[in-house]
Amino acid sequence: MTNLVPLRHRFRSIYGAEPRLFSAPGRVNLVGDHTDYNDGFVLPIAIERRTFVAAAPRADRNVRVQSIQFPKAGQFDLDRPGPKRQNGWLDYIEGMAQALEARGIKLIGADLLVDSDVPAGAGLSSSAALEMAVGLALCSLAGDDKLTRAELAVAGQTAEHEYVGTMCGIMDQLIAALGQPDHALFIDCRTLEAKPVPFARPDAVVLICDTKVTRELASSEYNRRRAQCQEGVSALKSVLPHVRALRDVSLADLEANASLLTETVFNRCRHVVTENARTLDAARALSESNLVELGRIMVESHRSLQIEYEVSCPELDLCVATATAQPGVYGARMTGGGFGGCTVNVVAEDAVASVSQALSGALERTFGKAPAIFATRASTGAKEHV
Ligand code: GLA
Repeated sequence: MTNLVPLRHRFRSIYGAEPRLFSAPGRVNLVGDHTDYNDGFVLPIAIERRTFVAAAPRADRNVRVQSIQFPKAGQFDLDRPGPKRQNGWLDYIEGMAQALEARGIKLIGADLLVDSDVPAGAGLSSSAALEMAVGLALCSLAGDDKLTRAELAVAGQTAEHEYVGTMCGIMDQLIAALGQPDHALFIDCRTLEAKPVPFARPDAVVLICDTKVTRELASSEYNRRRAQCQEGVSALKSVLPHVRALRDVSLADLEANASLLTETVFNRCRHVVTENARTLDAARALSESNLVELGRIMVESHRSLQIEYEVSCPELDLCVATATAQPGVYGARMTGGGFGGCTVNVVAEDAVASVSQALSGALERTFGKAPAIFATRASTGAKEHV
């Protein structure tokens, strides 16, 4: 984990002021992918990788930003919003600031220094971690805590939609804002209600395998999947008027009305409908510490994402096949948006070394590329370090 002493020190040498320190975690989703934008259910944990923001107030309404990871410093004026979608990390920060102001938070200017050990572009929500850490920092400096954590998360989603141009759901920001140590969160993405589910098995860990496959298709295909789900809803609504989102569709209703949908749209809808049911079952299994059942559901979820939603890739499939053949692995699946990124594995602690070795060996042999693998337990959401 990032050591806070050098960050403080660095901040002082850049800005000549004493900072307050804030952070928010990356996330990994145990079950429930491509359900959040269908008003459905998700079951993520906050991971032990975080984005830190050192922050000090300014007397004006300027925000100056530097990052340990990215060389280019940035600056913007809260009263003169700059152009959107500049394709840089400043989009997230200015987007967050503007989303907060739009919610009635009167911000003050700030000097910020960002440091992160959440790998960028790996599908572990480094962007939501940045948004939540910056959001908490800016609200705290302004002395305004009227936003709930769920509202802070929605502000982050607005920043993504408007400033970054990513039409994400709400899962990533909610878990980064609300994550709890030793718990997954069962989130209803319609009501934004988040229920902690104890991950109370000291003998098991979550092992994350980053294939390092860059998710080139992620954005265009993500939007296409969203449109296909919407197409399904529009068609089903004509005969099932109560349907507002795929959340409201049962498998029986979907199958009875299959003739209204193209085969592709039917498959997309089937994934979402069954994934919602799996997520409910997975939350129950986890709350009963039944990792065997949780693992079984994870593998089913992977198959559905691979075959019906078509968002996996050969590297992710190999990781899941390799992991599930190892002793000590309860379950494995791709996690997040897909087309690369990471798999999530629930693994007996004493099997971490052998499973990691098997995953590295398989990926190197087949694709000539070593993954990055790390174990995590469920961690805490956005917070100030005092
Ligand atoms: C990305 C999005 C999330 C969610 C996942 C898929 O991570 O940011 O909102 O849709 O994909 O579950």
